[in-house]
Amino acid sequence: MCGIVGYVGGRNAVPVLLEGLSRLEYRGYDSAGVAVLTSAGTQVFRKVGRVRDLEAALPRRLTGKTGIGHTRWATHGPATEANAHPQTSEDGRITVVHNGIIDNAAALRDRLAAQGVSFTSETDTEIIAHLIARSAAPTLEAAVLEALSKINGTYAILVMDTGHPDRLVAARNGSPLILGIGDREMFLASDLSALVRHTTSVVHLDDGELATVTASQFRTFSREEDDTGKSPTSIDLDVLDADTDGHQHYMHKEILEQPSSIERMLRGRLDDRFGTARLDGLNLGPRELRGFRRVKILGCGSAYYVGQMGAAMIEELARIPADAEAASEFRYRNPIIEPDTLYVAVSQSGETADTAFAVREVKRKGGQVIGLVNVVGSTIARESDGGVYLHAGPEIAVASTKALTHMAIGFAMLALTLGRVRDLSIADGQRIIAGLRSLPAQIEEIISNEDAILKVAHNLAESPSLFFIGRVRAFPVAREGAQKFKEVSYRHAEAYQASELKHGPLALICADLPTVAILPDDELTDRNLAAVQQILARSGPVVIVTHQSVDTGEMTGAQVITVPRNERELDPILLTVPLQLLAYHAALALGHDIDKPRNLAKSVTVE
Ligand code: F6R
Repeated sequence: MCGIVGYVGGRNAVPVLLEGLSRLEYRGYDSAGVAVLTSAGTQVFRKVGRVRDLEAALPRRLTGKTGIGHTRWATHGPATEANAHPQTSEDGRITVVHNGIIDNAAALRDRLAAQGVSFTSETDTEIIAHLIARSAAPTLEAAVLEALSKINGTYAILVMDTGHPDRLVAARNGSPLILGIGDREMFLASDLSALVRHTTSVVHLDDGELATVTASQFRTFSREEDDTGKSPTSIDLDVLDADTDGHQHYMHKEILEQPSSIERMLRGRLDDRFGTARLDGLNLGPRELRGFRRVKILGCGSAYYVGQMGAAMIEELARIPADAEAASEFRYRNPIIEPDTLYVAVSQSGETADTAFAVREVKRKGGQVIGLVNVVGSTIARESDGGVYLHAGPEIAVASTKALTHMAIGFAMLALTLGRVRDLSIADGQRIIAGLRSLPAQIEEIISNEDAILKVAHNLAESPSLFFIGRVRAFPVAREGAQKFKEVSYRHAEAYQASELKHGPLALICADLPTVAILPDDELTDRNLAAVQQILARSGPVVIVTHQSVDTGEMTGAQVITVPRNERELDPILLTVPLQLLAYHAALALGHDIDKPRNLAKSVTVE
């Protein structure tokens, strides 16, 4: 999804902007551009394709000490050079980069066109440049404020003005924007990853906040022009982690590093003596935890599916009604917010617009929200009342793997905490703790079977369409398995409850449609095996992902992948791991751009 970088300082802005843009590449984009204030005025360069294509198109001697850059993920108008950012006013004075969507773009465009403005792009961003340039306000800041007062929608913008070459003006509403403080130089970016090479001292702008930034100082202020007096905070990011470390793809690296990242996540958070978890960031005492009568989990895509795993864990361990809902739908159905419900927002990036808006809707109606978030200091982390950081480390591949496993573990720890202030016995709490501690070694064991999983993946990659089936605890696993497979292999993959097969989908079963059956050793094993028999009887190829203890001897023709057994509540975590490898190796066999699947973005900052 769109990315923003900006620089003001003593160095040449061009390499700083390009480096920042390449750090934002993982978010997904289709075009890129930079604008630099040079002695000959503002020079703008835009290119469809990769940042390296943009770099190749830049004049060798392009220099300037103030500049802005952008990676665009098309919303208003297709991916063309004209629609890429930065966008400029007619007189070339004002240049803007923008993340987000202007809802009243069509009306503003008509109004400006009626005033004689001729547009060079189909973007909503160009409107902002024209509005600022046409303002009669006495200062750049006032002109930006006047323009923003006419805009409805979400934005993070950087504004460059040839009349004020020493500064950038930044504004945020609904899309992240962070200021990095250097030594007589300042950096701006929509994502911390574009700042970490330069500084660990940052200021997160809040919604409705603006900033004027020069090489040596910054001022943050509100839409009413009152100083908001923000001071910098320190971030702790391991830049070296954001490297493929010899793996062919980030996705592979991220799947394989799960044993060590999980060990790190669990460190200091499990209390053996009392059989509970220590989640200090929740900011909730035992009495408050006991007071919740429901848990509502909100997330999008894979985070939503892991939320369903989490809801099952909470119901099983804490015996509180819990469910998960797609955050993208939740806020549009005028949800009833109850004071004794604990709302949990789950997000790797912490910037997913649909989830962030759902958090705001809950808070607006007085609800209590905690975040299960990976990126420290992200919007959802900051706007939640408390939370659990996932500590998965940077996740670069667009298809999420390790962060999802960490989310599931975060839910297990939350379920344990909620359970132990209710009826979960100390022995059961200790049983879950032992299970959590076994996860790293057990995931290692699954990964050691990668060669066998790879062969199965190659067979599956040949089919244009697949089913993933599971029941109850295993159904979210099937959903996530199908999601991962379709994201990176571009094969049609659909998840069903195994119990629902006979109510419709069985009509599609034939020799060309393989089914991946998630079949844990639990109270439903026999019923699941019966469903697999029905598929085999109709010549449907089957891959069974199961435990060693399940007798699959009679499933003639089925391929079997086994995972070690853990506690039944935690088994979904282990069952997910081979599905990550299946998706990865299918995509590899098909020769796809695995870390940047087509049409997808790492952090979906627009609705
Ligand atoms: C799947 C995937 C997406 C994300 C979803 C939410 O591999 O990556 O479905 O899970 O866009 O993203 P976060 O977790 O950043 O809120």
